Amino acid sequence: MSFDLVFFGGTGDLTWRKLMPALFQAFRHGKLPDGGRILAVARDERTDAEYRAFIKERFVEVDRSKQPSDEEFAKFAELLHYRRMDLSKPDDYQGLKEWIDARNADTAVLYLATSPHLFPQICEQLGAAKLNGPHIRVVLEKPLGHDLASAQEINRVVKSVFAEKQAFRIDHYLGKPSVQNLMALRFGNALFEPLWRRESIANIQITLAESLGVGTRGDFYDRTGTLRDMVQNHALQLLTMIAMEPPATNDADAIRDEKLKVLRSLKPFTRESVARDVVRGQYRAGNIDGRAVPGYLDEVKVPAGSHTETFLALRTEVQNWRWAGVPFYIRTGKRLAARDAQIVINFRPVPHPIFGGPNRANQLIIKLQPEDGLELTLQAAKGGLGSQGAAEQLSTVSLDLDFDKAFPTDRVGAYERLLLDAIAGRLNLFVRSDEQEQAWRWVGPILDAWANDSEPPRSYAAGSWGPAAASSLIARDGFAWAEEE
Ligand code: BG6
Repeated sequence: MSFDLVFFGGTGDLTWRKLMPALFQAFRHGKLPDGGRILAVARDERTDAEYRAFIKERFVEVDRSKQPSDEEFAKFAELLHYRRMDLSKPDDYQGLKEWIDARNADTAVLYLATSPHLFPQICEQLGAAKLNGPHIRVVLEKPLGHDLASAQEINRVVKSVFAEKQAFRIDHYLGKPSVQNLMALRFGNALFEPLWRRESIANIQITLAESLGVGTRGDFYDRTGTLRDMVQNHALQLLTMIAMEPPATNDADAIRDEKLKVLRSLKPFTRESVARDVVRGQYRAGNIDGRAVPGYLDEVKVPAGSHTETFLALRTEVQNWRWAGVPFYIRTGKRLAARDAQIVINFRPVPHPIFGGPNRANQLIIKLQPEDGLELTLQAAKGGLGSQGAAEQLSTVSLDLDFDKAFPTDRVGAYERLLLDAIAGRLNLFVRSDEQEQAWRWVGPILDAWANDSEPPRSYAAGSWGPAAASSLIARDGFAWAEEE
């Protein structure tokens, strides 16, 4: 299948840091369909050769361990082209159209890796240049909007130019192998589904912890904050995949319909419940892996006195028959104790314990990163005797599955998977506009409450698990975060 893949924002961070390395891996693994061309467009003047050299240099910065040999890179580089474009000029879009039409590939994927405020303008120009035929797909990178109104505006323009099935809204978490395994776990195994409900599950915890700070992205981050950066998209997408009803088929819309229903069932926030059920934090100086790191307010390009949150913990509920009364906790932040993303399903303890000692419940831990795996805790008898021959107390043991070991050769990175899916036209792992808008609708009252709140976020030391209030939030229900148990 021949394809053209065009990156708007071709010299930007996302392109060289994530997209080009992902394409290179796909190429290296022989997964990239033959007959492809990759075109980067950006403002400045460069030749193809200069662009190829630029990408090669950047590869070293991204990951030394995955460096291509000169020969390997040269083969990949043959696919790479560069074109100068002024995104406000209709003629430049005509030029692009001619470039695409001259080849007439089976599909052309236009990836908007620019700042999202340019999306409406680019889409309008693409429409005006008739770069929206049925073989064209447009990929939109997050953040898609700043709030509900801006997301709706982007979607309005996108829909005026492209059919929904041509629009690929990326949430790179959906491309992670572990996240696809969530679907496999739930809908490819009969074992868990009967237990996947309020009768058996006490609470669910989603933790997306990062040890990195905001780095050089202080200006972007300060306008964005954790709620918009991680919760409205990644964390909510994970929540929908855990809470959704089994879809009738594995088709994109069957799945997305079910995810949308979950988003619509989330308990709406009010000003009172934001104050009670949402904790926002901001890191101060601390230590990560024994190294002193600055506080958020001392990061480059962060304005003095900023109230932007770098941490958020919240409690919500999915208001339907399956989940009524089961708390779902989301916790995510920068400069936390570890890079650790996981979903913990805490089952209810046995109703009538007959063994001595604590009545511990089963726990299913879906590990997203750094490892990609599954852990199921069970209570077991060691087969020995208790002290002085007393009845033995049960011990907790784990069934531990490491997917990287189970499937050592088949794993592909999130962007690699999503780029290949966009080329193949598979929409399953992309977000539909109504899902995305519903997610914005749900976070809206939190944004509103904060906009009217003069209190700064709660401070937490870099290298900790966030403000103490995040522990109180969950302790109030009689539970604890997994690492505090
Ligand atoms: C991005 C956020 O969407 O996800 C970043 O903008 C964040 O702030 C990143 O660091 C986390 O992704 P991952 O795959 O490293 O967990």
